[in-house]
Amino acid sequence: MASRIEEAIKTIKMNDRGGFTVPTNRLYPYQWNWDSGFTALGIWHFNKWRAWLEIMALLDAQWEDGMVPHIVFRQNDPDYFPGPGVWQTNTEPASSGHSQPPVLASMILRMVQNGTAYDMRKAHEVFPRLMDYHRWFASARDPQGTGVIGIIHPWESGRDNCPDWDIGMNTIDVPGNLMTYKRRDTSHVDSDQRPTQEQYDRFITIIQFGRETGWDHRRIHAEGPFLMADPGVQFIFLRATRDLLTLAEMLGMDEVTDELRGLIARVSEGSNWLWNDNVGGYCARDIRTGAFSDAITNASMLSFYGDVGSPEQRASMAAHCRRILAACQYGMPSWDPEHEDFESRRYWRGPVWAIMNHMLVTGLADAGEDMLAQRIRSDTQKLIEKEGMAEYFDPLDGTGLGGMDFSWTAAIYLDHCQDRVAELLKETG
Ligand code: GLC
Repeated sequence: MASRIEEAIKTIKMNDRGGFTVPTNRLYPYQWNWDSGFTALGIWHFNKWRAWLEIMALLDAQWEDGMVPHIVFRQNDPDYFPGPGVWQTNTEPASSGHSQPPVLASMILRMVQNGTAYDMRKAHEVFPRLMDYHRWFASARDPQGTGVIGIIHPWESGRDNCPDWDIGMNTIDVPGNLMTYKRRDTSHVDSDQRPTQEQYDRFITIIQFGRETGWDHRRIHAEGPFLMADPGVQFIFLRATRDLLTLAEMLGMDEVTDELRGLIARVSEGSNWLWNDNVGGYCARDIRTGAFSDAITNASMLSFYGDVGSPEQRASMAAHCRRILAACQYGMPSWDPEHEDFESRRYWRGPVWAIMNHMLVTGLADAGEDMLAQRIRSDTQKLIEKEGMAEYFDPLDGTGLGGMDFSWTAAIYLDHCQDRVAELLKETG
């Protein structure tokens, strides 16, 4: 364990680019939104000042309208596609044009609840920016106030090539004037682990539409090529808004508590729209057509993290969780292993992700599902101890896949072993 802890700290330090951390060397050379959220929590266990710097750097890229972009480009790395020249957001620093699952407030709450006066002071400092970020999600991603958060690109879900998006992606017409481009991802990683070319053309079509509107998010929500509800973003946003309310109460920010309560009630109610009777669970859904995805994913299972559902709905989700865990050696797979589209090694079509497990464990433990929480927790531990800081893992045999020195996997490991990390730091001074 001690050597994996050292390896985790070393991995994060190696990916430090001076004030911000990249997900991994080469494959992902910039700062990513939710990666940095989780990574900050990991860094916090060995360097509080540096953890807050990670957060401040991410928030430094916040747009005027409140959006925190999914990638921040501080330097141009020709090795990565699509870079700043493709997004053309005209922001300083340059960034991508949409967001990612808003985990930031939840990670900050964890730091403050276990922290010192220093953490409280920093939380105070960033609080207005977190409010702006949540207001942006509430308005730009749900302009009609339905309580259903829409994502405008599969990448906004953070679960890039999950089959959940096939419904929305299949209706996208790739325009004749699609920009010509050359992918870079397949030169770093085996192409059978990466999205297909056809999918990639559609990913780029959405970006081209966004930039043609000048990144006008009202228009993109109303007319863009893709608009789906994602149980992941829905429940993560709901949880983060609750955590923001707790933070507001701790910090004495009374002026925003009613607003946050209203938002929580609305998004909680809106979550019902994601319930798919055919499978007895929460699924992704196309907002314009109402068509459902028909599989249970690790994002569906975040319903416990979002604290939604009637007692019957919760029981049904727990039953799915038990069934899926029984079908694989290591949980929680990103796609139902009993569904025909399951691929144990392809990215978000099957593999296990430590960050998702981290949120699942928190949600299941809060809901009193201790056995399930314990199983996922110990699987995460075993996977990382066996394979190291891999990007994601095969749920059937545990093989580590993707990039091999991943910051967020290291961060989750440090969080899991936090007591041991503290002891080790004491021993080594
Ligand atoms: C991939 C993942 C996304 C992550 C990024 C950087 O695009 O799908 O969730 O943020 O890599 O690690």
